[in-house]
Amino acid sequence: MWNPFRSLFGGVSYLGVDIGTTSIKVVEISRRGGKPSLINYGVLESYGHLERPNNAIQTSTLKMLDNETVELLKMLLAQLKTRSKNVVASLPAFSAFVTLLEFPSMPDAEMAKAMQFQARQYIPLPISEVTLDWIKVGERHDDQGVVKQQVLLISVPNDQIAKYKNIFRAAGLNLIALEIESLSAARVLMADDPTPTAIVDIGARSTNIAVVDKGNLKMNAQTDFAGGSLTQAVASGLNISNRRAEELKKRQGLLGTGGESELSTIMLPFVDAILQEVRRAKSTYEREYHGTIERIMTTGGGANLLGLEKYAEGQLGVPVVKGASFAKIGYPSSLEPIIPTIGPVFTVALGLGVRQFAQ
Ligand SMILES: Nc1ncnc2c1ncn2[C@@H]1O[C@H](COP(=O)(O)OP(=O)(O)OP(=O)(O)O)[C@@H](O)[C@H]1O
Ligand SMILES: [Mg+2]
Repeated sequence: MWNPFRSLFGGVSYLGVDIGTTSIKVVEISRRGGKPSLINYGVLESYGHLERPNNAIQTSTLKMLDNETVELLKMLLAQLKTRSKNVVASLPAFSAFVTLLEFPSMPDAEMAKAMQFQARQYIPLPISEVTLDWIKVGERHDDQGVVKQQVLLISVPNDQIAKYKNIFRAAGLNLIALEIESLSAARVLMADDPTPTAIVDIGARSTNIAVVDKGNLKMNAQTDFAGGSLTQAVASGLNISNRRAEELKKRQGLLGTGGESELSTIMLPFVDAILQEVRRAKSTYEREYHGTIERIMTTGGGANLLGLEKYAEGQLGVPVVKGASFAKIGYPSSLEPIIPTIGPVFTVALGLGVRQFAQ
């Protein structure tokens, strides 16, 4: 039978496309040697944001630069010579409302009705303007010993979904699925690991905190303190350009002693602001959902900040590790030396790319 998803050169492959605030990341994933494997990848960074902080690809308002995104995406795919037209893409966490609800056990059909009803209380938009999705994410015995079904309610404004559909259609691609980025990150970083973990994705403009327990996403939180805040602090603190500050930050991170400790002194208040948000998310989760977060896992480009895990562990008093995005994903051996650095940057794109293989 003709399979439209089968490319001319071998097996089925999918594109994972992560449109961030300052970059577009693409991976192409195919099955190789019995596991999903990276066959192509690339990132297009809009350096504009370093010169003009307001020039973002994606902004949290709905005034998106759609046409520019389409052009950038087409350019990137042409450069990479990707084969597949089939895309799984992420919705930035700030575009969705994610709420954990608890229900007494009931059949799915009833649950769907209850959800529509309950959703109204939690969503700051009319229900007709959002698309709802819900995932069963576990059970809990409440104080009276009654079993409660935990359900994650995800709602995304319809115009946000329409925007994504338009972008991919205009780029000549076939959008198979859209998911919030926390789900993609959790798929890649947690796999079968049951440890209750807060995944801290430090991007350029925002940090997303996703609490995952037994592989299930339970809570999502965000802050605007992120990698860009550190760059801007360095630029104004040392009175240098953002571009230069970015280089310095990447080279030295929080390391450096004596005369070189100035950089970390400038950045630490902003790192602390990110950690404060992690602390807040952790205590909210532990108070409201009666679980204990046993580990913090960093990802996103900001996770490459040298010395971050050690500092964060000291501040938070919980083990902090950098997520291993390629633990379950194959890649060409020539990439070995750069895997630890590109891993955090491509976490979400990888999660999107392997989605169809994981099902
Ligand atoms: N080696 C490094 N050391 C410190 N920071 C780094 C390093 N490499 C990248 N970063 C930072 O990571 C950030 C970009 O991360 P990422 O690519 O995950 O962001 P994004 O997904 O485009 O943004 P967002 O998630 O906010 O939409 C930038 O602030 C960049 O300076
Ligand atoms: Mg990101």
